[in-house]
Formats: sequence, C-alpha cells, structure tokens
Amino acid sequence: MPSFRAPRGTRDLLPPERTAFVRLERIAAELAARYGFRPIETPLFEQTGVFERGVGEATDVVEKELFRLAPRSGEGETWALRPEPTAGLVRAYVQHGMQTWPQPVRLTTTGPMFRYDRPQAGRYRQFWQFDVEVFGDPGPAVDAELIELAFRFYAEAGLNPPDAYVNSIGDEACRPAYVEALAAFYRARIHRLPALERQRLERNPLRLLDSKEPAMVELNADAPTITDRLCAECAAHFGEVRAHLDALGIRYVVDARLVRGLDYYVRTAWEFFPVGARGTQSALGGGGRYDGLVERLGGRPTPGIGFGIGLDRVVLALEAQGADSVTEPVPLAVVVGAEPGATAARLRIATELRAGGLSVRADLAQRKLGRQLEAAVREGARFAVIVGDELADGLVQLRDLGAASQKPVPLADLPALLRRKATVA
Ligand code: HAM
Repeated sequence: MPSFRAPRGTRDLLPPERTAFVRLERIAAELAARYGFRPIETPLFEQTGVFERGVGEATDVVEKELFRLAPRSGEGETWALRPEPTAGLVRAYVQHGMQTWPQPVRLTTTGPMFRYDRPQAGRYRQFWQFDVEVFGDPGPAVDAELIELAFRFYAEAGLNPPDAYVNSIGDEACRPAYVEALAAFYRARIHRLPALERQRLERNPLRLLDSKEPAMVELNADAPTITDRLCAECAAHFGEVRAHLDALGIRYVVDARLVRGLDYYVRTAWEFFPVGARGTQSALGGGGRYDGLVERLGGRPTPGIGFGIGLDRVVLALEAQGADSVTEPVPLAVVVGAEPGATAARLRIATELRAGGLSVRADLAQRKLGRQLEAAVREGARFAVIVGDELADGLVQLRDLGAASQKPVPLADLPALLRRKATVA
C-alpha cells in the first residue's frame, strides 16, 4: 500500500489554519483597495529567464532555490515556479504596455510562492505572500507610504508592531564603487572567510554582508557601509524617505548593513521582524525600490517599488504572541428533526434560511434528536430549529441552545426572527 505525504517543506493548511490565512487575505485585499491598489494575478510559473534576469542569477533564490520545471522534449522554453511575484508582475507590466496607463500603476497580488530551500520552522518550500507594487513613482514619499501600509497590515492582523529596519543601498551611480570597496575589504581578510563566502565574494560581495555565519558577523562589524558612500541623489532621496517616515510617526531603525537577497533593489530597502527576533527565518516581510527592473525585462525605464509580506510568518508570529489568529465560522442555527427519516423538510428549511442570508447547518444525519442537539451545541450554534409534527400547522420549535429553552414559532416568521437574533450578540 503506498502511503503518500505532502511534499517535504510543504504542508496542508487544514481548516483552522486555512481560516487564519483567509482572514489575512481579506485584510490584505481590503487594505490594498483602501490604498488604491488594483488586484492582479499572474501565472504561478514563468519562463525561467524572467527570474534569472529579474531576480538575478547570482542570488540564492535563483541559483539554489528555483523550482525548475522539467522541460518537455521539443519545447524551446524552460519554466520555473515563481519564487516571488515581483519579476512576474514586471513582466506583465511590460507585456501589456502598462506604461501607457495613467501612472503610477499600483498593483497587488496574494498567493503561493515556491523556493527550494532547506525546510525548517518558518521556512517552507511553498509559502504565501501579500505583495504590493507601484510602477512609475520615483518617490520618495511613496517609499514611506508603503512602509506605513505594511505597518497597518500587521496592526489590523493583530500583531504587535514589528521592528522595521530601513536602509538605502545606493544605485548604479554609487553602488559599484561601494561593492568594490567591500570586496577589497573581504579580500584583505580572505583567510577569515568560510569556504562558501569565498565563492560568493567573486560573484556577489554584497551577499556577504548579511551572512549569518558567526565568523562573518564578527568580520562584518568592521566592514565598510554604504551610508557614507551614497551619491548626492541617493543620500537626498534617503533623507527624504526618513523625513516622511518621521512625519507619519513610523518607528524604524536605520541599518547600514541591511542588504536584500534579490538583485533588483536600488536605494530604499527594508525588512520587518517580530520584536527583538531578528533572524533569516523570522522576517515578516521586506521590500524596496527597483528602478532598473522594468528596463531589465525589456520595458522603458520606469521606477518601481513594492513589498512582500510572508503570511505563514505572520500566522506563526500571531501564535507566538498568543493572539487568536483563527475564528472559525459557527452556524447561527442548526435545523434538526425529531423524525430522523424526514430530512427533506430540514434541508428545505435550511435552504430558505440561507437564501435569506443566515448561516445555517441542516442536520441530515439519520440519528436521534438528542444526538443532533448535542452536535449543534458542540459546534457552538446558538439556536436549533426543531422540525416535527407541528410542521403540518406551519410551526417549528426554536430552541435557544444556551438557555436550553424553546418555543413554537411560525415557519414564516423564522427568517426575520433569526436575523434579529443574529444582530444581538
Ligand atoms: P523576500 O524578502 O524574499 O522579498 O520575501 C518577502 C517575505 O516572504 C519574507 O519577509 C518572508 O516573510 C516571506 N518568505 C520568504 N521566503 C519564505 C519561505 N521560504 N518560507 C516562508 N516565508 C518566506 C520578496 O519576495 C520581494 N518580492 C518583495 C518585494 C516586492 N520587493 C519589491 N516588491
């Protein structure tokens, strides 16, 4: 007998957990609409080049973690599951000529992402992100607006305000010289670099800066930072982003060593962590500006900025702080029957009540009335509608399950009566 399991690093979201996600997705959709973002959906897989060019070939996400789909013989194209949504949204922006739409274009999407990473707590091979992107706005005000939006999402989700780390990582004018200075710093200390970091040094020196290797953490304390090497434009931009954040009353820490794992970022970059719990597996979200990306994927030069919030991590953080992340729906009433065989009337009455907007379950089981009532109490329903012989006279018994009292009610009055009771907590 085969015994199948969900693939390693993935999990089934069973009803209580899925309900927690649905709640977050609803908050995300509602907030995004309030901030003027329009929903968009792109495929879960793209031509591999979208990620190689978009996210960058020398990133962990593409080099090690990309889920490449096995090519079919005869097909020239290769595909990969999306490790993140930004590159695909930029591809869509270019493909559909969104440069000709009124700018800025504000888009949002929420859905599963795939990274073939070593699974551990909070790090999955399939995880969910709430993502927003703004095309055609060079900032700096929108940079602060997005950070504020992320804070509001966490607040509405019920999370304690997370720690926000913000940095400017420069642009093509100032970053190359900085990366060179950084590489020179590491080369001068090459004997202290772990093997993996030595390899990375030649391909992507910036990645060494946020290495979690203890040897690197120590070394990085003395590494040159970009902050005092920003060009005048980047320094001015960052100064204004901070001024906007301050004006909005946002609390954040400037972290001169914050670099992000994806290659497309320029200037403003940020990350959120649960209070006092900074670590790679606990980031609650991150984002930044990617002004060169639209061009890199074949479009006209267009500024871009956005963020992704990891919904799995938000659910974990809510649990860790003891917040109730799940409120499963409970029916207001259960329609039960004294005659186990007579299910048709129960189904019909439940159907009419649902058509009237009420949340109702029909007990369609062939079991004793006592059992049906017990089940209704167990699931937290407030009322039972008991269908019996009086139905011939147009009557049912309405039982208040909390008070354990009941009275006959004309069937015709039932929807209005229950609706009134539903509004009284
Ligand atoms: P990211 O920092 O790679 O950015 O991912 C954003 C968030 O997704 C992380 O902060 C984390 O909460 C969650 N996340 C990432 N990997 C995993 C995983 N393996 N398991 C569970 N959660 C995970 C991006 O993806 C960018 N596209 C964000 C962005 C949008 N930048 C500009 N626009």
